[in-house]
Amino acid sequence: MEDIWFAEKNPKDYCFNVDAVKVKRRVIAPYRTDGKPKDWEETETGNFRLTFPSNLWDDISVPFWSMPENTDHPTQKPEKLIAKLILASSNPGDKVFDPFLGSGTTAVVAKKLNRNFLGIEINPEYCRWAIKRLKNAEKDSTIQGYSDGVFWERNTSQNITKRTSNNTTHLGSDSLFD
Ligand SMILES: C[S@@+](CC[C@H](N)C(=O)[O-])C[C@H]1O[C@@H](n2cnc3c(N)ncnc32)[C@H](O)[C@@H]1O
Repeated sequence: MEDIWFAEKNPKDYCFNVDAVKVKRRVIAPYRTDGKPKDWEETETGNFRLTFPSNLWDDISVPFWSMPENTDHPTQKPEKLIAKLILASSNPGDKVFDPFLGSGTTAVVAKKLNRNFLGIEINPEYCRWAIKRLKNAEKDSTIQGYSDGVFWERNTSQNITKRTSNNTTHLGSDSLFD
């Protein structure tokens, strides 16, 4: 578990886009009003509710070998985590600065979310990995676990599961990344 600090210079003028970081969660208690879903939606792939993020983010895993974003950097941050920070605290076109860029996660996510970026990294090999990831981001701007403007409580949208008659769960191939 890691702590994240949020700070501002001017309490009257800072950016906090909470609507940009909502989480789509599977509904556990499907309350209805007049037979209609109360504050959730029914879809072919299940019932979901959009929620504001809580103070504890339990929907994120560290990058591992089968995730496309993974590199050999020993302390690489997940793109999904950085996406939440960037979306909540900046707007498109803003500049995001990371003085310890490592494998480039902050710059890559900033690029994918149409922010400008600036980074510093002392290790030349990590810089090469970051440049490679930035090149890849030109072709693929997806962020695992984030699509359609929402974060999914699991790491994918396509893998949303269907309950079968015996109440087991089919997992899509993407679920390997959860
Ligand atoms: C915790 S890692 C950052 C990982 C990064 N967020 C990622 O997702 O890959 C910190 C990085 O800071 C770099 N670093 C340490 N001291 C530095 C310095 N004085 N100037 C620039 N980079 C430095 C390290 O090489 C390391 O890659």
